[in-house]
Amino acid sequence: MSLANSTQSFGSVTKTFHWLTALLILTAIPLGWFANQLPYDTSEEVARKAFFFSLHKTVGIATFFVGAARIFWASTQAKPTPLHPDRKAETWLADLVHWLLYGSLVLVPLTGWIHHAASEGFAPIWWPFGQGLPLIPKDEAVSATFAGLHIVTKWVLIGAIGLHLAGALKHHIVDRDATLRRMLPGASVAPSVQVTRHPRSPIVAALALWLVAIGIGGVTGAYDDHAPIAPAAATLDVANTDWNVQDGTLTIAVQQLGTSVEGSFSDWTAAISFKPRDEVGPAGTVDVIVSIGSLKLGSVTAQALGAEFFDAATFSTARFKAEIVRTEEGYVAQGPLTIRDQSVSVNLPFTIDIVDGTASAIGRLDVNRLDFQIGQNYPDESSVGFTVGINFALTARSDAGN
Ligand code: HEM
Ligand code: HEM
Repeated sequence: MSLANSTQSFGSVTKTFHWLTALLILTAIPLGWFANQLPYDTSEEVARKAFFFSLHKTVGIATFFVGAARIFWASTQAKPTPLHPDRKAETWLADLVHWLLYGSLVLVPLTGWIHHAASEGFAPIWWPFGQGLPLIPKDEAVSATFAGLHIVTKWVLIGAIGLHLAGALKHHIVDRDATLRRMLPGASVAPSVQVTRHPRSPIVAALALWLVAIGIGGVTGAYDDHAPIAPAAATLDVANTDWNVQDGTLTIAVQQLGTSVEGSFSDWTAAISFKPRDEVGPAGTVDVIVSIGSLKLGSVTAQALGAEFFDAATFSTARFKAEIVRTEEGYVAQGPLTIRDQSVSVNLPFTIDIVDGTASAIGRLDVNRLDFQIGQNYPDESSVGFTVGINFALTARSDAGN
């Protein structure tokens, strides 16, 4: 059997590509559907869902590369002539479906991949390419748009496969011709038909159909962010303080399914009284109040704020009330950190630089989420790590001449 196609038959490379991509796609579809409808209320359920999503994505990316290689190969090959060129409409429809299938080989996995790359904290891809993609930001809107495009392109693919399969079976069972046999492994069946050219209009029709499908997705809200709505954040009163915070960031980092997920609180206040000193001893106090509901943690914000984790609806604020002490090693804020009404005494080391009455401070602290009864139904680290890294950076101004 020849490696290359002829005008009458498919070569072995085309056949191998055809059945390999068919196998990969027909594996990716049920895996995606199955993973999507699995529950994720407990640690075991999250781990199971993540396993099937990782498998789906890994098979999907293999499909992308095999599909791209297949398209490249097809572009160098003759497209065997239709067996019934007289049946114009049927041949045209078969060509249209082939173009939709070729398009799907790229569009379906690529939209899934971009959706994944733009999301924070999700089941990892097992190929060693990393989890991000160049030029794709971690952004909820991008993630939601491509999740919608993945679903829309998937429907076009499923429709095209349905028509493709129906056509192949009709040729085999009703027409009893060589259409299916010509694609099966083994010696090529070359029925020797007069060569006719494939028209170009099915390519245009396929492009138009993709656009219509994408448009229908827009009208039906497929690209909107469907993430569960997080509870409203508590609004904090301005703190009465010697040092006025000008700007700053308060972030947390946690390992989810082996990947670090970063989040930040946009609303917090700090009442600071501080006198720099060179010798060991007390240097002031700090009282930080954080609006828990102001947390953004990528695509898992709503879960993080839900009852199992921060439970923002019941415990709307967290508090760190500490004495600032100068030690041999530098400054440390020592005191109770209270989250979900659980108080744990912590030491938060930080550095501070004061220039012309403006202080820049940076500090970090690791806590164990279980100490605050966060994620008790996740008693091991398989889906959510125990350690939560807390980082702050702020600049504050003192008008009292400190
Ligand atoms: C040929 C390749 C692929 C096919 C045929 C495919 C098909 C599917 C299907 C059928 C679903 C279920 C949708 C539903 O139930 O409504 C799905 C969901 C999903 N797929 Fe794929 N997929 C492919 C590749 C990928 C790749 C490469 C990735 C990421 C790297 C990916 C990520 C996802 C994600 C994250 C979802 C869940 C979407 C959501 O948030 O609702 N897929 N896919
Ligand atoms: C599992 C059931 C499938 C069967 C029975 C089947 C059968 C066939 C047959 C008989 C042909 C030759 C048509 C002709 O001579 O004009 C063909 C071509 C083709 N099939 Fe499939 N197929 C299947 C699945 C798929 C899937 C899942 C894809 C997805 C990408 C696909 C993509 C294609 C393409 C793009 C062509 C055109 C090849 C060319 O002429 O360049 N097939 N298929």
